[in-house]
Amino acid sequence: MKTGTNHRFTITGMGVLLAVALSFMIAPLSAAELESSIARGGQLYDKWYAVIDTDAPKASHPAYPADKKYAKKAKSNWRCKECHGWDYRGVDGAYASGKHNTGIKGINGMAGADTNAIINVLQDQTHDYAGKMDAADFTDLANFVSRGQENMDQYIDRASKSSKGNAVKGEVYFNTLCAQCHGKNGDQPKDMKKTLGKQMSNPWEVMHKILNGQPDEQMPSLRALDRQITIDILAHLATLPKKK
Ligand code: HEC
Ligand code: HEC
Repeated sequence: MKTGTNHRFTITGMGVLLAVALSFMIAPLSAAELESSIARGGQLYDKWYAVIDTDAPKASHPAYPADKKYAKKAKSNWRCKECHGWDYRGVDGAYASGKHNTGIKGINGMAGADTNAIINVLQDQTHDYAGKMDAADFTDLANFVSRGQENMDQYIDRASKSSKGNAVKGEVYFNTLCAQCHGKNGDQPKDMKKTLGKQMSNPWEVMHKILNGQPDEQMPSLRALDRQITIDILAHLATLPKKK
């Protein structure tokens, strides 16, 4: 009898221990569910007015340099990426030269920064986004700037623009995760202007879109998965046809 009681006690005790252990494992996970906010922030960084389904401002962004290529194109020059780049490095990255060069610095200096400090930057006179997006949008953007930036040089060789991933593995990922929408040749959907192979001339943009999704489209975000999967896919994309 005594043994039996002890035995039951032990099982109940283990049950409690397990419940406590599980609550510790699960609670921090859901509290830390930042990935979806960061991914949406990444899409806002790409083209915020498409994400929130509004029109781009009619007048050009006040901080866009008047003598640069997109000075008269408000639709372009209000996008964060237009001044700060797909690699988040602004003038120190891929936009150091070429038609997208503005001379403006990257956002990498605020990686890890307090999100309120980032929101203040976005709402200051230089940026002028106050009133154009709501509180949830600013939170997502700030989470992206603070926690969502990648050091792309770790994954993409800057000089050759090639991914450091494995194209053979990437083919399997692409054919199972992406091909239903993009076709095995990366030339779908029909209204996509350039094939995914062609888009690899800008691997930083493609990496940003794989991690965060495409604004206002049914495309998933791979942010929650291991980065190796993303860069393996990138390596495979570079092998796909450049023409439709
Ligand atoms: C038209 C150009 C332009 C656009 C578009 C733009 N920015 Fe900026 N951004 C700037 C300039 C210029 C600075 C530097 C301001 C300064 O140093 O006073 C800056 C600075 C920043 C900084 C601070 C970087 C640091 O290290 O101090 C962050 C963060 C930032 N921008 C995020 C964003 C986000 C997010 C968006 C889109 C919602 C955006 N920016 C859109 C021009 C732009
Ligand atoms: C549920 C459908 C769907 C899935 C799955 C999907 N995408 Fe997309 N993706 C889209 C749509 C729709 C677009 C917008 C195409 C356009 O520009 O017309 C898009 C756009 C893109 C773009 C940007 C194209 C551009 O013109 O700017 C890239 C890059 C991309 N997808 C890569 C991928 C990769 C890689 C995967 C797999 C990890 C993937 N997508 C999975 C639907 C999907």
